[in-house]
Amino acid sequence: MTTAANENAQSQPILLITSSPNTVDAVSTNLAKRLAEGLAANAGDGGIVHRDLGADPLPHLDSTTIGAFYTPEEDRSDEQKAAIALSDELVDELIAAGPIVIAAPMHNFGISSLLKVWLDHIARYGRTFLPTGEGPKGLLADRPVYIVTSRGGVYGPGTPFNHLDLLEPYLRRVLNFVGLEDITVVYAEGTGKGTDGIQAAEAEIESLIAAEAA
Ligand SMILES: Cc1cc2nc3c(=O)[nH]c(=O)nc-3n(C[C@H](O)[C@H](O)[C@H](O)COP(=O)(O)O)c2cc1C
Repeated sequence: MTTAANENAQSQPILLITSSPNTVDAVSTNLAKRLAEGLAANAGDGGIVHRDLGADPLPHLDSTTIGAFYTPEEDRSDEQKAAIALSDELVDELIAAGPIVIAAPMHNFGISSLLKVWLDHIARYGRTFLPTGEGPKGLLADRPVYIVTSRGGVYGPGTPFNHLDLLEPYLRRVLNFVGLEDITVVYAEGTGKGTDGIQAAEAEIESLIAAEAA
């Protein structure tokens, strides 16, 4: 994790999650970074907290961590306390964040496994969701979330193969589950076929930054 924040920052940082295994010139990473930087420039002094899941993959959950998730804090063993520390840090980052930018390359019609592991760590009983008689209740305060998704093919809204896009509905569902409803999706499509889709996404990102500044 890298932090680029003013030491005396008062405003909330932008949380940037990048999830391409390609750590050199990934489309989604480049676009999401530009969006985060543009939003940060408008937002004040909170800076950007960047979790680069490609450069620093998170460990998969294991039985000790899952056991810790469902054990009250005061009853956790030392082993469980150590196992849950990373998940707690990731949840704390989410709670502290202002806008969230998530870079999500499409892998086999869904998200990358790197991003899935992050979701497994932050979807936390009692911290980010609670079951209720009326279904699960998300506990995070809502804030703008920007998903920047790159894909070799074209599956965006209104296109013939939109039904193959399992990434966007899945990511929306999990974010909603933890309380995040204010979601904007930027599509960089057809990255395997040329640069038109990337340029369209770049233009969309500049519009979003300008709209936030206005
Ligand atoms: C493991 C893997 C699976 C992929 N699966 C799909 C897919 O299901 N549909 C698609 O259109 N592109 C797929 N692609 C292509 C990527 O989505 C595309 O290259 C994208 O631009 C990668 O973004 P990135 O540069 O941010 O990593 C896949 C690429 C990889 C490496």
